[in-house]
Amino acid sequence: MSIAANRAAFERLKFRTRVLVDVSHRSQQTTIFNHTYSSPFGIAPVGISAISAYRGDIALATAAMDENIPAIMSGSSLIPMETVQAAAPRTWFQAYLPGDVRTGFSLPLRPSLRLAMDGISHPRWLLGTFARTLIHHGMSHFENSFATRGAPMLSASAVRDTTGRDHLSWSDIASIRQRWSGNLVIKGILHADDARRAVAIGTDGIIVSNHGGRQLDGAVEPLSVLPQICDAVGDKTVVMMDSGIRRGGDVLKALALGAQFVFAGRPFMYAAAVGGASGVRHAIGLLRDEVDRNMAMLGTVAIREIGRAILA
Ligand SMILES: Cc1cc2nc3c(=O)[nH]c(=O)nc-3n(C[C@H](O)[C@H](O)[C@H](O)COP(=O)(O)O)c2cc1C
Repeated sequence: MSIAANRAAFERLKFRTRVLVDVSHRSQQTTIFNHTYSSPFGIAPVGISAISAYRGDIALATAAMDENIPAIMSGSSLIPMETVQAAAPRTWFQAYLPGDVRTGFSLPLRPSLRLAMDGISHPRWLLGTFARTLIHHGMSHFENSFATRGAPMLSASAVRDTTGRDHLSWSDIASIRQRWSGNLVIKGILHADDARRAVAIGTDGIIVSNHGGRQLDGAVEPLSVLPQICDAVGDKTVVMMDSGIRRGGDVLKALALGAQFVFAGRPFMYAAAVGGASGVRHAIGLLRDEVDRNMAMLGTVAIREIGRAILA
């Protein structure tokens, strides 16, 4: 339900084009957190991406670096963050906080006939991603959830362990804020009161998101709550959004409603699965070209000009 609602929210909005504006010098460069990115969009964190694309986290992060957009690496990833950081030093990291336990977090694939059939019936993935990873890097493990290495990806016995996460509260964020002097962003905000709370604690940014409709089905689509959240905190923090971005026009619609920056998850993950880092670069180029063309048709030359006036 939420996954369809994410798209429908974009489809409801319409543009009003402008004609005969000289837009020959337009630019979509956007500065957030003291860095000027080439586009107002980045790559959202996608867990266990190295299972769907060979060395997925590295493919996504290096393509983003080459194209000068941000990529967020998931804490639920199969490659150590140090490895990704060495390949693409400006990569952001999405931390999953382990609550109060230190046992292994896992979402293991269970060996079964069905899994074997799935693998055999997808030979390109079996050879190009799974076997290639196994041969060159050994069995994948969850690497970044805890101080020690997590459970293997393929396991008959490991269980998903999220124990203690329901204890997490704003006071944990406050204590992280005290210890972490780098940029701190909270992803998954859908309520203006939570946005205010995040600002009060001193976070540097928020990502308005229902995680692509993958968590609470029925959760409201971020685009619909974006205006009220921007009204509440838009001048006090960097408001970003994701969930449902598929086209350049979607990027501009979100910016028109007040977001400073957006992220997309599935589109870049699909690109990585099909074409590795070059596939991701291609996808970034497609989205960037659409943003560029649409800005021209809307008579705008800079991202700061994108506001409600471009909408019907
Ligand atoms: C397969 C998959 C895995 C994901 N894993 C994570 C994750 O580990 N951490 C996280 O914060 N969000 C995760 N997300 C959510 C994305 O970061 C993002 O919010 C979402 O994909 C945006 O919606 P979109 O796919 O419509 O662009 C995941 C999404 C997908 C599709």
